[in-house]
Amino acid sequence: MFKCKITKKKIPQIINFGRMPIANGFLNKKDFKKEFFYNMGVSFSKDVSLMQLNNHPRPEMMFNANYPFFTSSSKFMKNHFKNYANWAKRKYVKTDNTRIIEIGSNDGTFLKNFKKKNFQHLAFEPSKNVSEIAKKNGINSITKFFNRKNLITFDEFVNKTDLIFGANVVCHIPDLLEFILTCDLALNENGKIIFEEPYLGSMYKKVSYDQIYDEHIYMFSISSIKKIFNIFDFQLIDVFPQNTHGGSMRYVLERKKTNVNKKINKWLEIEKQENIDNISGALEFKKNCELSKEKLQYKLNNIKKKGKLICGYGATSKSTTILNYCNIDSKIIDCIFDTTPNKIGKYSPGMHIPIIDYKYFSKRFYKYAFLFAWNHKKEIEEKEVGYLKKGGKWITHL
Ligand code: SAH
Ligand code: TYD
Repeated sequence: MFKCKITKKKIPQIINFGRMPIANGFLNKKDFKKEFFYNMGVSFSKDVSLMQLNNHPRPEMMFNANYPFFTSSSKFMKNHFKNYANWAKRKYVKTDNTRIIEIGSNDGTFLKNFKKKNFQHLAFEPSKNVSEIAKKNGINSITKFFNRKNLITFDEFVNKTDLIFGANVVCHIPDLLEFILTCDLALNENGKIIFEEPYLGSMYKKVSYDQIYDEHIYMFSISSIKKIFNIFDFQLIDVFPQNTHGGSMRYVLERKKTNVNKKINKWLEIEKQENIDNISGALEFKKNCELSKEKLQYKLNNIKKKGKLICGYGATSKSTTILNYCNIDSKIIDCIFDTTPNKIGKYSPGMHIPIIDYKYFSKRFYKYAFLFAWNHKKEIEEKEVGYLKKGGKWITHL
């Protein structure tokens, strides 16, 4: 049994994925011996309908000056953030002096879209390297975690903030209660919290268990968000499904005013029917993960038996879960091609598969390419059109 991070009650473990390294901990050969590992398991709280990690490394071990994920590395995501910003401007940014905070602002890809409006903003981004890039992009990036201690010094944003935005960051914050209290401190009476995160329902449907890794402490659903924020008198007022990261959900919350919301109630009903709000969905998912692991190992072993070569494409953090859970090392996958300068030349966490500049993908032929960045399928297939023509085959675990 594990302690629920929200209710503090004992809750059962659902899946044990075993020994895991830091998902984004791409490393040099000289550091193999001192690599950090922890046991990765998830449990489910029926009280708040929340799937959560049992153990995880300290946030400072993951979010620091060497954070290797850059939002702008995907054209599709850049475009997504442009649309997200335009949507927000139309719906919520009514005046030029609207005060905005973004958390997990990374290299500033989202906030850059507001630049033309003379807007007052703060961006909280603890990972120094990406925060510095945002600063160069003209973003007021504070290289700190978003919490009350770090917010309180910004008078103009205490009780005066109109909008708090985030994407793929709230699920990274272990102390969710502190996060909500910080939002409470920042927002004015009508302020809104708007964020989007990978959606539990999409993960169940696709059996994309690779969404679970150290940074993703929570796998949210509409039911869980509603229940958790309700504890602090915030209500969920709108939701919008997104096609990013294999299926995400955008949530809009504000201070509690009225309780009747037909749209949310309809969604809650769907989540109930699909067992997303209760433990049966989680138990079914466990079975599907085990099956998926067996199938993948069988598929890869068969390819190797035929003497064919396999490479990986996209050294994603998600790939760390697949490779370590399914025990796939460099005897099976020779190398992983990727665009990120900080990853190229290093090795994948735990399984130590070499990461190679994607430019060489079209030069060296691998009959099979494991698409670890499956959520960027369209963008990558367009970039690598020649691969299929040469007889190459994209494979995934999905
Ligand atoms: N929003 C971007 C980046 C997501 S990656 C996108 O969707 O592409 C998550 C980011 O959140 C990282 O850049 C990480 O450094 C940052 N982060 C992690 N914990 C945080 C916290 N407590 N407060 C603010 N940012 C945080
Ligand atoms: P993403 O799915 O966003 O990563 P994560 O699982 O870490 O959240 O994919 C980002 C990774 O994929 C990053 O290492 C860069 C790589 N990538 C490519 O190599 N080529 C591409 O065309 C794209 C879009 C991503």
